Amino acid sequence: MPESRCLQGIWSSPWIFIFAASGSAVGLGNIWKFPYVLGQNGGGAFLLVYCLCLLLVGLPVLIAEVALGRTVRSNPIDTVNDLSERRIVHSAWVVVPWIAGITGFLILSFYSVIAGWSFAYLERAISGDFMGITSSSATDMFSELLAEPSEMLLWHSVFVVLVVMTVGQSVTRGLSAVVRFLLPALVITLGALAVYSVSIGDMDSTLRFMFQWSWQDVTFDVVLAAVSLALFSLSVGMGAMFAYGAYINKRMSIARACTIVVGVDLLVALLSGLVIFPLVFAFQIDVEAGPSLTFVSLPIIFGNLIGGQFFASIFFLLLVIAALTSAISMLELFVAWLHEKFYIARLKAAFLMGVLVWFVGVAVLLSFNHWDSDIVLGLNFFEVLDSVTSLILLPIGAILLSILVAWFIPHAMLQNEMITQRLSHFQWWYNVLKYISIPAMVMITVAGWIGV
Ligand code: TRP
Repeated sequence: MPESRCLQGIWSSPWIFIFAASGSAVGLGNIWKFPYVLGQNGGGAFLLVYCLCLLLVGLPVLIAEVALGRTVRSNPIDTVNDLSERRIVHSAWVVVPWIAGITGFLILSFYSVIAGWSFAYLERAISGDFMGITSSSATDMFSELLAEPSEMLLWHSVFVVLVVMTVGQSVTRGLSAVVRFLLPALVITLGALAVYSVSIGDMDSTLRFMFQWSWQDVTFDVVLAAVSLALFSLSVGMGAMFAYGAYINKRMSIARACTIVVGVDLLVALLSGLVIFPLVFAFQIDVEAGPSLTFVSLPIIFGNLIGGQFFASIFFLLLVIAALTSAISMLELFVAWLHEKFYIARLKAAFLMGVLVWFVGVAVLLSFNHWDSDIVLGLNFFEVLDSVTSLILLPIGAILLSILVAWFIPHAMLQNEMITQRLSHFQWWYNVLKYISIPAMVMITVAGWIGV
């Protein structure tokens, strides 16, 4: 057996995997990205397509990724090498985990800047800066944060250090304990804020915006945005879930666990939408504002809420923790690989990766102020990284990974892996992946690129 099989640890119960995977899935993608992408893509039609994408693309690909991770129980790069040594697949497939690892690395370098914004807002929340805020002062507060790189640099650095320290430990240790507390706390807090936001905000417009749709709103751009957000939000297509799958206990049903993860992820995203949009409409914030949307509307809620300082502090603290539990899954692939292949201590491997992430992150945060120039197609560096990862690398990673699982890994090997679920369920998943998810991803991605 290759040395790469030696593991850091195995999740001690199925729930621990569910918590850890949900911890990776639930993050800034749900609270920061989902609302603004929904806003930019017209609401209802996007939400409908997004739910379909979660079900028909996200879930089958998530199951594929986790199952493959459990089959070989190693990091993704060694897994593919191992499969090719055993002549099961061609060695060229090793590009898949490499694309995955690079995508994770690139996502982390801007993710940590956005997590830095959450830190900066946590500090403002604790100091009571949201009290009596108006919509224009909330907009100014955010613009001031972006205009001044030194504060962003501080929080970006703090975040990278935290990620490095956490990933440097074994992932199975401690993580599930944190997420077990985080998820319920996040759902309860978001639920309470949604009730409050709905009561002071514009509920009618929100319901109309989020849940009404017409066919002509379903364009290729909307569908591509929905697929890519579904992949981003579930953390699939870049080997993070693969790595967590490697730590799963043999007895558990992968399909059931993954369905729960998708449910939790959608719930948190919907709750964030219900927190943010009633205020966006009531205070006439631009729905298409983009990345600033969450950071401009949330302070308004807290500023008007009795005990707002307290709730704001709790909320941003939870957001920072949620970002951290997602971020660690982005580094896990390379860290596990460096550790298992080259025997580099995990902390050292995490540190090496952290330094690289930090440098790219600095370029990202400068692109909001001093270096706010267009690189290509009128996009600045942050927008280029975001688009390249979300619209190109993630879909390609997910497509290749799914093709590998559906068409190249022997059917019997997968079935053996999925032994804990009913055969009919297995066939369902396999056929959906093969005949729906893969063709849909390929068509949507290519059509989105050529701008049909
Ligand atoms: N899913 C996380 C979120 O919603 C982000 C994330 C974590 C991610 N790991 C990932 C995105 C891997 C893409 C790939 O915030």
